[in-house]
Order: sequence, then structure tokens, then C-alpha cells
Amino acid sequence: MAQPHFLCMLLFLVLSSATACDRCVHQSKASYFSDAAASSGACGYGSLALTISGGHLAAGVSSLYKQGAGCGACFQIRCKDSKLCSSKGTKVTLTDLNHNNQTDFVLTSRAFMAMANKGKGQDVLKLGVVDVEYKRVPCEYKNQNLAIRVEESSQKPYYLAIKLIYQGGQTEIVAIDVAQVGSSNWSFMTKNYGAVWDTSRVPNGALQFRFVVTSGYDGKWVWAKNVLPTDWKIGVIYDSGVQITDIAQEGCSPCDDGNW
Ligand SMILES: *[C@@H]1O[C@H](CO)[C@@H](O)[C@H](O)[C@H]1NC(C)=O
Ligand SMILES: *[C@@H]1O[C@H](CO)[C@@H](O)[C@H](O)[C@H]1NC(C)=O
Repeated sequence: MAQPHFLCMLLFLVLSSATACDRCVHQSKASYFSDAAASSGACGYGSLALTISGGHLAAGVSSLYKQGAGCGACFQIRCKDSKLCSSKGTKVTLTDLNHNNQTDFVLTSRAFMAMANKGKGQDVLKLGVVDVEYKRVPCEYKNQNLAIRVEESSQKPYYLAIKLIYQGGQTEIVAIDVAQVGSSNWSFMTKNYGAVWDTSRVPNGALQFRFVVTSGYDGKWVWAKNVLPTDWKIGVIYDSGVQITDIAQEGCSPCDDGNW
């Protein structure tokens, strides 16, 4: 059963996310921070962050972070110094909020160096800040489904907090419902912070989830039919059995669909 305020929220989020023009090419600057700092990112991935995208991670300004909806989004980013940097650039995953608006992105040093031509990594690193262009691209997790990690703050049977990892495609999850497997008594979950969603209406037993993701020009449901076992435990990562591969459309002009 869909809660009415849910649909309003969905519509609002879909419309507001459309204004950011994900698929346009943006011009900005990027700097870098130590790879170790990535585990304290605002999205809350913790030490898991370094296993995402081979440690090619990024803190993005608030228009990219989108109050957490941008967590896990993937970007192709290249530096504009053609002597030092490759035209392909590198792919990064957003795991943190960049509070400093001098650069749209702060990258892990690993990702920063990956923008360089062969043998030029240290030279690029020495620059500290470089002119870049970037665009959002689909995330690809070839052998990895969307996964749900039960957060430490969860308290059976009163409170459940989950974090989503390995979210493929180029969408935003705008709503999540949870129900006992086989039941149609859905409880909605609320975005807590970053990539973390929670509810204090925790169904008993094994749990299924359904997600509303932005797809096409509006939303679509993705149903993960059997995710948490009856004896779900905190700190454990559960395979959702589904992967999201959709790409949300938007009215950007010009859209850049070319390959870098
Ligand atoms: C950048 O951030 C500073 C301090 O938060 C703020 O005063 C300034 O208006 C911001 N500039 C832009 C271009 O957003
Ligand atoms: C639906 O689920 C909620 C949360 O688990 C529970 O409090 C409520 O009693 C359930 N309602 C029905 C009709 O089973």
C-alpha cells in the first residue's frame, strides 16, 4: 500500500534532482585528500569506502551530494592539462560531502593520480589543484548486487537502520519500504543521513524491501523479495538479489552521452 505523502515526496525529489543536470559536462577544479580520510566520509560508508571502486572516491559539493541522495553516484572526471592528464580521466564514486566550494570535487590521491598520463601521477599530485571537467556516469558493479548493510544503531525488534552499497546505474533511490517476506504490510523507511535509511516500525521475521528509484523521466519500483533473514544481525552485509541498472533521464541540453 502506498502512503500518500510518499508520492509527494517522490515527485518533489524527482523534480528537484532534475535541476542539477547530472548528464551535462561541468567545468570546475579538483583537489585531493589522503586515501585514509575517505573512511570518515559523510555518506557513512566507513572503512567499506575503500573497497568501493578500487578506492577511487570523491567528496562532492552540496549540489552533487544532494543531502545524501548523491552518495554512491559515479562520475567520470578528467583534468584539462593535456600534457599531464589523459583524455579519458578516471571514474570516481561519491562518498563524502565537500564543504569547501573552491572545487566541486576533492578526490582520494589514488583517484587524483589516476587522471594522469602514464608516469605523470606524481607531477599531477604536485599541482595540488587542477582544472577538471566531469559528468555523471552509470555505476557498474558487474559481479555485485545491490547490498544492504544492517547498521550498528539497529536494535531488534524496535529499530532498523540500513545502508545501501553497490548501487548500480545512474539513479537516485527516493523511497524505501520494508515488509515481512510474503506480507503486504509495508513500512516506509526514512532517510537518516548519507546512504543510511531507518525505521522504528520493524516487521518481524525475514524481510523484503522495495525501492523507488528515479528512472526514465519519473520513478520505478525495484523489488528485492528476500533480503534479511529472520536472524538478521548488525554489521552484516546482505545481498539484495537485485541490481539497479536504470539511467534516469533529464532535460539537459546539451547532454553528453559520448565516451571519454
Ligand atoms: C562559498 O562558501 C562561502 C563560505 O561558506 C560562501 O560565503 C560563498 O558565498 C560560497 N561561494 C559560492 C560561489 O557558493
Ligand atoms: C503492520 O506492520 C507494523 C510494523 O511492523 C505493525 O505495527 C502493524 O501492527 C502491522 N499491521 C498489520 C495489520 O499487520
